[in-house]
Amino acid sequence: MKRMPFDPQGRLIPGSISARLSVPAGIQSPPYVGMQAPPPYLGDNTYTEDEVEKIRDAGRIASRAIDAASAAIRPGVTTDELDRIAHQYVVDHGAYPSTFGYRGYPKSSCTSVNEVICHGIPDDTALREGDIVNIDVTAYLDGYHGDLNRTFRVGEVSEEAELLIQRTEEALRRGIKAVAPGREVNVIGRAIETYAKRFGYGVVRDFTGHGVGAAFHTGLIIPHYDSAPRFNDMIVPGMVFTIEPMLTLGTHEWDMWEDDWTVVTRDRSLTAQFEHTLVVRESGVEILTLSD
Ligand code: MF3
Ligand code: CO
Ligand code: CO
Repeated sequence: MKRMPFDPQGRLIPGSISARLSVPAGIQSPPYVGMQAPPPYLGDNTYTEDEVEKIRDAGRIASRAIDAASAAIRPGVTTDELDRIAHQYVVDHGAYPSTFGYRGYPKSSCTSVNEVICHGIPDDTALREGDIVNIDVTAYLDGYHGDLNRTFRVGEVSEEAELLIQRTEEALRRGIKAVAPGREVNVIGRAIETYAKRFGYGVVRDFTGHGVGAAFHTGLIIPHYDSAPRFNDMIVPGMVFTIEPMLTLGTHEWDMWEDDWTVVTRDRSLTAQFEHTLVVRESGVEILTLSD
């Protein structure tokens, strides 16, 4: 019998996590795999055209892995099954699923359901009609990572869930549009928070966008709220980072499950997220995590 993954109030309950999948020999793994924490990243956040193409190649695989996993979304499918599809897609294309073995994380994607803000671990939770689920995949290919996520509907969802998803994607678009050389990275969160505030949504502060490329997380931080005068790193051409706003129907505060990964809204309100990896151009920005 399938376990009921939600308590009587409809809140999510941790499921059981399946055995680790395997990565074929011959796929290059990132340096942190098998270590407690990644080695310090000493490079900067700007890349040559050749490097940008490698981030794009990794990002395309990650995006298509999400396409493949999301095609399986329906009531009754488990988040573990979605992870298995994403994992298979990534390794079938010669890449390594960056989260697998990152600080001990056991899976190849994050699957964050309903009140899970981010870093949900795929398990035997069977999705129900009306749930929302974010799938976050990062692929590592030829030394470079590409990182994205999207939030999906399971069957038909409530109007408030539908609007939250649409507006969170729009918040990412507005954050992307705010990027231009000569501005500080805090303009991104200003654009996102200004938009989210219109609807009274919570804007998660403690999980952020980040520099990505030669490392999974380079140390550069991209807040999704208005953090000025802090986070004043100058945006320059060739810079690569993610923007990945998490918006909620309630508080921006969070709790962590005992698994030390799963981050949920403190009030268990619904939350959505969208993420892209971007490169800064002389005029504006280019997305590196598209499927085509
Ligand atoms: N891909 C996530 C991000 O956007 C990071 C997940 S780290 C994990 O930064 F270990 F939780 F998988
Ligand atoms: Co990211
Ligand atoms: Co991600």
